[in-house]
Amino acid sequence: MHELELTQVSKTFKNKTAVDEISVRLEHGVYGLLGENGAGKTTLMRMLCGILKPTQGTIRCDGIPILQMGGEYRRLLGYLPQDFGYYGDFSALRFLNYIAALKALPEEYAQIRIDELLEMVDLTKEKKNKLKTFSGGMLRRVGIAQALLNDPEILVLDEPTSGLDPGERVRFRNIISSLGKNRIVILSTHIVSDIEYIADKIMIMKDGRIMHSGDEAQILKEAEGCVWKCTVPESQVDGLDRTYVISNLRNQGDRIELRIISKEKPALDAEQTAATLEDAYLFFTKKKSSRLD
Ligand SMILES: Nc1ncnc2c1ncn2[C@@H]1O[C@H](COP(=O)(O)OP(=O)(O)O)[C@@H](O)[C@H]1O
Ligand SMILES: [Mg+2]
Repeated sequence: MHELELTQVSKTFKNKTAVDEISVRLEHGVYGLLGENGAGKTTLMRMLCGILKPTQGTIRCDGIPILQMGGEYRRLLGYLPQDFGYYGDFSALRFLNYIAALKALPEEYAQIRIDELLEMVDLTKEKKNKLKTFSGGMLRRVGIAQALLNDPEILVLDEPTSGLDPGERVRFRNIISSLGKNRIVILSTHIVSDIEYIADKIMIMKDGRIMHSGDEAQILKEAEGCVWKCTVPESQVDGLDRTYVISNLRNQGDRIELRIISKEKPALDAEQTAATLEDAYLFFTKKKSSRLD
């Protein structure tokens, strides 16, 4: 098993700091990198894959800077880019053969592995169909299969669930959980529920920094006491919305039940309630006035 260590890693484009002095150590398990668009997830992942060079800082694998490891590091790595490119006229089978050749996998091994992976992502029946006829979810599954061809010990998946329907999300979660046992899996998303059940460790990223990390229980603990429920007349909703972060809102006859994220009690009759990961994410990333400071 391997270990990745980032030491004060930053990436600046012209005058935009996309990743800002991130230091973190990754061991085996599934890591969920959670953040809004523009948080710096893709930039961080491209550096982890050695495609982008940090402006500052070092990424080490088992103590050796990855940029010094070259091909040796690439052999350990599987990557599904966010903008995963493919040839629409290729069949799934031909595409996987093509990637296997690019990765210089031995021919005989490649055939066995491709069959195995097609089975795993449930595309054996469709393997001869052209990719341009595939749904978004099927393409993501092809993307995951290509990232796994070399049986990578470090697997980097950038927004792997984008474009998946609910059924496909469930299937995807099951695939990922089975992979994290003895390798490093890092997946990024802006959808909390995509990592809620599968990430061993969650890293919440904002403005190029990892603001919080820990397992789900640790993250929830930090947001404890900051989630409130109250039921108010509709006329009060706008006022509360201007002041507080509202995580949910539900009609209750002529009144509205609100779920409010705030350190202080937002209304007289508000009652504290247990935080979900979604609440905690809002708590860490969305701030209105000074209510969450
Ligand atoms: N090649 C680039 N040139 C200039 N700015 C970039 C480049 N890549 C990313 N950025 C900027 O860096 C920030 C982080 O982007 P990105 O890593 O794609 O975030 P995320 O994947 O979380 O949406 C954004 O503000 C983005 O506009
Ligand atoms: Mg991205």
